[in-house]
Amino acid sequence: MSILSLLGLFLAIIASVTAQTWTDCNPLNATCPANPALGTNHTWFFNNTIDNNAWRATNGQVDQTDKGAQFAIVKKMDSPTMQSNFYIFFGIVESIVKMAPGPGVVSSVVLQSDDLDEIDWEWVGYNTSGVQSNYYGKGNHTSYDRAGYHYVPNADKEFHNYTTYWTHEKLEWWIDGDRVRTLHYEDAVGGKNFPQTPCNVRVGIWPAGDPSQEPGTIEWAGGEVNYHDSPYVMTVQSIRVQDFSSGKEYVYGDHSGDWQSIKVVEYVALPPPPLFFFSYLLNTR
Ligand SMILES: *[C@@H]1O[C@H](CO)[C@@H](O)[C@H](O)[C@H]1NC(C)=O
Ligand SMILES: *[C@@H]1O[C@H](CO)[C@@H](O)[C@H](O)[C@H]1NC(C)=O
Ligand SMILES: *[C@@H]1O[C@H](CO)[C@@H](O)[C@H](O)[C@H]1NC(C)=O
Ligand SMILES: *[C@@H]1O[C@H](CO)[C@@H](O)[C@H](O)[C@H]1NC(C)=O
Ligand SMILES: *[C@@H]1O[C@H](CO)[C@@H](O)[C@H](O)[C@H]1NC(C)=O
Ligand SMILES: *[C@@H]1O[C@H](CO)[C@@H](O)[C@H](O)[C@H]1NC(C)=O
Repeated sequence: MSILSLLGLFLAIIASVTAQTWTDCNPLNATCPANPALGTNHTWFFNNTIDNNAWRATNGQVDQTDKGAQFAIVKKMDSPTMQSNFYIFFGIVESIVKMAPGPGVVSSVVLQSDDLDEIDWEWVGYNTSGVQSNYYGKGNHTSYDRAGYHYVPNADKEFHNYTTYWTHEKLEWWIDGDRVRTLHYEDAVGGKNFPQTPCNVRVGIWPAGDPSQEPGTIEWAGGEVNYHDSPYVMTVQSIRVQDFSSGKEYVYGDHSGDWQSIKVVEYVALPPPPLFFFSYLLNTR
């Protein structure tokens, strides 16, 4: 068993809505580093290994087991999370997940961009036969009526397939091959709040019902976490990610956060060295 781990650099973020909502640099008001592109289609089987070129732990420790990557709350305020080093600019994310049961415990798979566009799957542990879908655009958290509620039997005992299908025109959430929700671009504040910038993938668990949280958050989470009944464990067997763009990296062309402003930087193929270079080498030997 190997362990991905990192010191808890991001404890402060626990106070935010999903515990995963943060950005190092916001392109809406700064010039930020380019986003490394996935640019392809790949499946990671976490029951075999956690590829640390593609994924890094951003808080706590993620355990690699023969069931998959496990995210456990063992003691107060544990919230192991990992995120992809790559970004996708529209695409498909297919995750095979077993949620963690328990009031106050929230498991999540989130797509998030540097300017805080966000696409969520959230499993709130008091209800083991449901999942919530959600989205945010440009970090606009003023409205909490965007969640969708979807039935999934035994979500804590069985693996299910939760798939996000994302283009510049629409966003779809699929469960085990059934489309359960569609969001069209124009339906998200006329497109302004439609997720449309390159996103990385964030997976984790969070004690939203810790007594230190806001009362509204604890209520949403179904009550306070009972740490005596820990561990609470979310298991992710695999994640397939397909990037609909290809290239080396994605760059914000301006501060609008509009998808049309994103530049796809292609790999530059180096031309072969001219022949005379080799003959020069031969002649000097
Ligand atoms: C940059 O934008 C973010 C998100 O809108 C905001 O929280 C932050 O205060 C802004 N920073 C500056 C310097 O304007
Ligand atoms: C993506 O890769 C998976 C295997 O990782 C494969 O099964 C699937 O067919 C591929 N899909 C596309 C569209 O290339
Ligand atoms: C991991 O899970 C996949 C999908 O269920 C399976 O095909 C594969 O054999 C498993 N690998 C290991 C090492 O258990
Ligand atoms: C769990 O959520 C699903 C989807 O919203 C719903 O159908 C079900 O009634 C909920 N169960 C409980 C116990 O709240
Ligand atoms: C934020 O969301 C609210 C509710 O959907 C909407 O009325 C408002 O226009 C949005 N603000 C921005 C800046 O997009
Ligand atoms: C998961 O669901 C998606 C969408 O229906 C489907 O394309 C994909 O084949 C499913 N993956 C697995 C591993 O069942």
